[in-house]
Amino acid sequence: MRAAVRTRYGPPDVVRIAEVEKPRAQDDELLVKVHATTVNRTDCGYRAGKPFIVRFFAGLIRPRRAILGTEFAGEVEAVGRRVRSFAVGDKVIGYVEGPFGAHAEYVTIPEDASVAKMPAGSTFEEAAPSTEGAHYALAYIRAARIHSGQKVLVYGGTGAIGSAAVQLLKGLGADVTAVCRTESVALVGRLGAARVLDDRAVDFTTDDRTYDVVFDAVGKSSFRRCKRLLKPQGIYLSTDLGPFPQNPILALFTRLSGGKKVLFPIPQHDQEIVTYLRGLIESGVFEPVVDRTYPLDDIVEAYRYVETGQKIGNVVIRVARPADPPH
Ligand SMILES: NC(=O)c1ccc[n+]([C@@H]2O[C@H](COP(=O)([O-])OP(=O)(O)OC[C@H]3O[C@@H](n4cnc5c(N)ncnc54)[C@H](OP(=O)(O)O)[C@@H]3O)[C@@H](O)[C@H]2O)c1
Repeated sequence: MRAAVRTRYGPPDVVRIAEVEKPRAQDDELLVKVHATTVNRTDCGYRAGKPFIVRFFAGLIRPRRAILGTEFAGEVEAVGRRVRSFAVGDKVIGYVEGPFGAHAEYVTIPEDASVAKMPAGSTFEEAAPSTEGAHYALAYIRAARIHSGQKVLVYGGTGAIGSAAVQLLKGLGADVTAVCRTESVALVGRLGAARVLDDRAVDFTTDDRTYDVVFDAVGKSSFRRCKRLLKPQGIYLSTDLGPFPQNPILALFTRLSGGKKVLFPIPQHDQEIVTYLRGLIESGVFEPVVDRTYPLDDIVEAYRYVETGQKIGNVVIRVARPADPPH
C-alpha cells in the first residue's frame, strides 16, 4: 500500500510517499481502507519530535513508527474473527493518536478503540476531521465542567481546537465570546460565538466583561494576562504548556486556592468520545471546518501549510486515488 513515511524527526520534507506492507487485522481489529485523513498539529509535533517530551512516547533518537496520521474516515475492508460491532463495508471514523498510521491507504484499529460509524450524511472528506481538534476541545470543556448559561471566552476561535470549541460550547448553551483575526470574524460568528472580538483591533485582555472560563485554544496567552477577565472562581484553560512550561505547575498551585484557577487536563480519547462527536455532527451541533484539501502525494505541502499556524479549522488529505470508488 502507499503511505506517507518518515524514519527520522525533522521538518516536513523528512516525509515521503513509499510502498509499504499492508497491515492485517488481528482477531479484535478492523482493517480500514482510508479515504481521507488530516494533517494536524499533533502530527506536526510527532514528526518534528517537538516538544522533546513527545520523544519519550514516540522514540528517543528516532521515531519508532514510520507512518503518522491520527484521524481518518474510511471503509471497513476486513474484520478479525472476534469483531462483533463492525462489519465489512461499514463506513467509519477513527482516532489513532499513539499508534498513528492514518497517513496510509490502510490502517488497523481495535474494535473497542476510538472508532465509530461515520456520521450519516457526511462524505469521507467532511468526516475525517471529526476527532482531533474536537476531542481536545471536548476534553477541556469537560474538565472545566462548562454548562449552559456560563460565559466563556475562547481565544483563537479558528484553529482545529478553537473552531470545535466554539461549536461545542454553543451546543451546550454557553454564552461564547471568541477572539480571532479580522478575516475570520464572520466565520466564528457563524460557528456560534455570540460576540467576536477582532484580535487585530482590540487587546482581548482589556475586555471589560468577566468570564466563568477563559479557554486559550491556541496556547498563546498566559494566566497572568487573562486573570483579570475571570470571575472570582473562574477557570483558565490553555492547550499549551505556557511560558516556562507554567500551566501544569499553575494547575497544581491553584487547585486548592478556592479562587481563580488553571486547569491543565491530559486529554484522553476513547470510543465514547468519538461516538459522542459523531452524534453532535448528525444533530447539526458540530460541523468540522475544512480549510484546504491535498492529495496524499502532496502531504509535505500540507505539513508546510499547517506549520504556518494560520490554518482555519482543518487540513484534509485525500488518500483514495481518482480510480478508487467515490464515497
Ligand atoms: N494539549 C494538547 O495535547 C494539544 C494537542 C494538539 C494541539 N495542541 C496545541 O494547541 C494549539 C492549537 O491547536 P490547533 O490544532 O487548534 O491549531 P491550529 O489549527 O494550527 O490553529 C490555527 C489558528 O490559530 C490561530 N493563531 C495562530 N497564532 C495565533 C496567535 N498568536 N493568537 C491568536 N490566534 C492565533 C490562527 O488564527 P489567526 O490567523 O487569526 O491568528 C489560526 O486560525 C497549538 O498550539 C497546538 O500546539 C495541544
